[in-house]
Amino acid sequence: MAAPWSPGSWRNQPIEQVPDYPDSAALAEVEKRLSSFPPLVFAGEARELKTALAEVAKGNAFLLQGGDCAESFAEHHPDHIRDFFRAFLQMAVVLTFAGGCPVVKVGRIAGQFAKPRSSPVEVSGGREFPSYRGDIVNDIALDPEARTPDPGRQLMAYRQAAATLNLLRAFAQGGYANLEHVHQWTLGFIKDSPAGHRYRELADRISEALTFMRACGITPENTGRLRSTRFYTSHEALLLGYEEALTRIDSTTGEWYATSGHFLWIGDRTRQPDHAHVEYCRGIRNPIGLKCGPSLEPDTLIRLLDILDPENEPGRMTLICRFGAEDVGRHLPRLIRRVEREGRTVVWSCDPMHGNTIKAASGYKTRPFDRILQEVETFFDVHRAEGTHAGGVHVEMTGQNVTECIGGAQSIKETDLSDRYHTHCDPRLNADQAIELAFIIAERLKREREARGRSDDRASASA
Ligand code: PEP
Ligand code: CO
Repeated sequence: MAAPWSPGSWRNQPIEQVPDYPDSAALAEVEKRLSSFPPLVFAGEARELKTALAEVAKGNAFLLQGGDCAESFAEHHPDHIRDFFRAFLQMAVVLTFAGGCPVVKVGRIAGQFAKPRSSPVEVSGGREFPSYRGDIVNDIALDPEARTPDPGRQLMAYRQAAATLNLLRAFAQGGYANLEHVHQWTLGFIKDSPAGHRYRELADRISEALTFMRACGITPENTGRLRSTRFYTSHEALLLGYEEALTRIDSTTGEWYATSGHFLWIGDRTRQPDHAHVEYCRGIRNPIGLKCGPSLEPDTLIRLLDILDPENEPGRMTLICRFGAEDVGRHLPRLIRRVEREGRTVVWSCDPMHGNTIKAASGYKTRPFDRILQEVETFFDVHRAEGTHAGGVHVEMTGQNVTECIGGAQSIKETDLSDRYHTHCDPRLNADQAIELAFIIAERLKREREARGRSDDRASASA
C-alpha cells in the first residue's frame, strides 16, 4: 500500500537534478508567494485534454506536441509566440487535412523553463561553473554569479507563463485560428520554400472545401470548431517546489491538479520509480507524459504505470519514446509487447529529437533532419508490425528561421549552424523543417488509415 500522497510528499523521497539554492529561506519565501497566486490552467481543461488523449490511445486521433527545448526570458516577445503558434497551426492543419486525422494540439510552452542536465557543472577555459538549468533557475551567461540559482526567477517564470498563455488563448479563440485564415498563417520566410509551396496548395484545397461548406450553410459564424481551436500547454515537471506551489484542489471533484500547465511529463533522467518526480506526479490528476529512453526496462515501465496510473485510465499516460533512429527498432517492440500483454491503455508518442543529438565539428550541438525522419518512420513501422497505434509526435521546434538542425529541404549544413543558432538548450526544427516533417507524417497517417480500411473490409467480407 502506497504511503499517503500530498503535494509535498515528494520531499521525503530521493531526488535528482535539484538546483543548489544558496539561500533556502529565500526559496521558501518564493514558494509561499507562488502558492497564493492564481492557477494558470483549470482542472476542467486538463480533464478535457485527458478525454482527447483517450481518443488518441484508441487510434481515433493524433497528438502533436511541440515547442522550444527551453523557453527564455530574453526571447519573451509577442512575435515569437505568434510565429510559434502559426507554425504549429500549420503543422496541425497539414496533419488534419492531408492525414485525415483529428489532431490534439499540445505546446511545449507557457512553462517549459527548467532543464535537466547531464552534469551539474560546466567547464570552460579551465574553470568550473554551475550548469545552466533553465531560466527559471539561473542565467545562461557564463559567469559564476549569473549561474547561481536564484529563486526570484520562479516568479518571473510564472509571470511569463501567464502572459504567454494569455496570448495563446487569444490566438486560439479570438479569431486568429479561424480556418478561413489558413492562407494567412504562412510565415514570410517559408513562402518560397518547397514546404511553403505544398502548404499553399493544401490551403487552397481547404479554402475550396470551406467555400463548399459555406454554400451548405456551415460557416465559422455558426460553427465554433471552424472559428477557434483547442490548444493545451505542457512542460517537464522538473522543479518540484514550483509545481507543488501551483498544485491545487479542484473544487468540482475535490481532486488535486497541477495548474502550471495542462500536461506535465517526467523526464528520462528523473523517472526512478521510488524517487521524488514520480511521487509528485502520481498524485495529480492531469494527463502525464513519461519519457522512455534506451535504459528503460519493460519491468520498470510496468512498475511506473502501476504507480502513475493504477486504474489504467485512458488518456492518463503518454509514453514519449526517444530512443534514437538507430535504436528505436530494437527498444520499442519489447516495450509495446509488454504494455499490450499487461492490457494497459497508453498513448504512444515519438520524440525523434532527444536520441538524435550529435556534436558538429564546429562544436555546435545539432540534429540531422534525416535521422529525425528515420526515427519517426521506424516508429510507425514498429507500430504497424505490432498492430498498435502510432499516436503522436513530440518535437522541439520554433517559428523562427533558425539554423540549428542540419538538413531538410533548405539543406542546412554544418557550416551554416553559426548563422542563426539561438536555442537556449537543444537544437530545434525551424518552421520550414517542422512543416516538412508534418507533411511526411501526414502521408504516413493516410497510409495507415488506408491499411486499416483494407483490413476492416477484409474482416467484414469474411464475416
Ligand atoms: C527534453 O524534452 O527537453 C528533455 C530533456 O528530454 P529527455 O528527458 O527525454 O532527455
Ligand atoms: Co530538449
